[in-house]
Amino acid sequence: MKTNRSISVEIAGLGSYLPDRILSNHDLEQMVSTSDDWITQRTGIKERHLVSDAQATSDLAIETARRALEDAAVAPEDLDAIIVATCTPDHPFPATACLVQAALGVAGAMCYDLEAACTGFLTALAQGAAIVASGMAETVLVIGADALSRFVDYTDRRSCILFGDGAGAAVLRRSRSGSEIVYAEFGADGSQPDLLLLPAGGSRFPASIETVEQKRHYVCLNGPEVFKHAVGKLGVLVSNIPEATGISLDEIKLIVPHQSNVRIIRSVCKRVGIDEDKAYMNIARVGNTTAASIPLALDEAVRKGLLERGDLLLLLAFGGGLTWGSILIRF
Ligand code: UT7
Repeated sequence: MKTNRSISVEIAGLGSYLPDRILSNHDLEQMVSTSDDWITQRTGIKERHLVSDAQATSDLAIETARRALEDAAVAPEDLDAIIVATCTPDHPFPATACLVQAALGVAGAMCYDLEAACTGFLTALAQGAAIVASGMAETVLVIGADALSRFVDYTDRRSCILFGDGAGAAVLRRSRSGSEIVYAEFGADGSQPDLLLLPAGGSRFPASIETVEQKRHYVCLNGPEVFKHAVGKLGVLVSNIPEATGISLDEIKLIVPHQSNVRIIRSVCKRVGIDEDKAYMNIARVGNTTAASIPLALDEAVRKGLLERGDLLLLLAFGGGLTWGSILIRF
């Protein structure tokens, strides 16, 4: 799926939130047979933030929502819709977005959750923008929030080193500044769900003594296969941009890719001939935070002054499903 016209929408404000607890590579050395060296070399990750025993995904989402609304100077009652991208909702239902709405103390906005794993935030951003462009909404809050640590097997060294928890959000509204989505492309390939899967807890394998005993409530990851697909698809997404838009890759000021592995990000940059310094990376401090990854990194990058109004910003995601997407924004 691709856009064939630009969408007039602006990111009026951004926010992000990381829980206080930190799990370092040295902590993991005490838990599984791994080393700081191995994790750093293979992933670029040094530490990640984890929820406390008392926190769930909505707690992360609510805090980041407050920060984004403050940044945008938008009152909660002015929101027409709240979309939460997450694969770790507090409950199968009601939607985490409804819990966020209640905590903000407002009622009336359309609220729903969206699940597209690590591509979730970009999918939510595209939907939020489409709702604004259609005229159905003036202001939409889009959140990416995940607490994947709740579903990580901390005896499985192949996956437990990767993931962290967090949230990030953007307030979208009809453009007042000339800001626009210039181009967007999304896709999925559902033929290999086993590559990245949480097997039980849904309607296929509801929770039972057996599913718990068989450790089927934890993330199963085929890392090397996902890695290969990620580099290939992200490379194609970037390469499609010049032909589709007439914009050369040199004109892009900043790339904020999903933070899954520095080697993935570097390989994509090399493959498409982009200077890797253009790709913002905070994975060393936060790990892979799933749907939160892109808005967390974007909020940081903007606060560091790496992006100004009018600059071209490329957001890039790849994740479970398999799913992928790119959004090119005139910020
Ligand atoms: O967000 C989107 C979804 N996720 C991803 O994009 C993740 C994509 N995949 C990856 O980032 C990488 O595949 C991993 C970081 C998960 C793994 O790195 P890799 O370079 O692909 O390692 P590997 O799985 O091929 O394993 C290489 C070796 C194996 O040992 P042998 O069989 O060669 O003796 C593993 O058993 O490294 C071993 N290994 C470890 N050693 C120390 C695997 N995990 C660890 C570990 N510490 N944590």
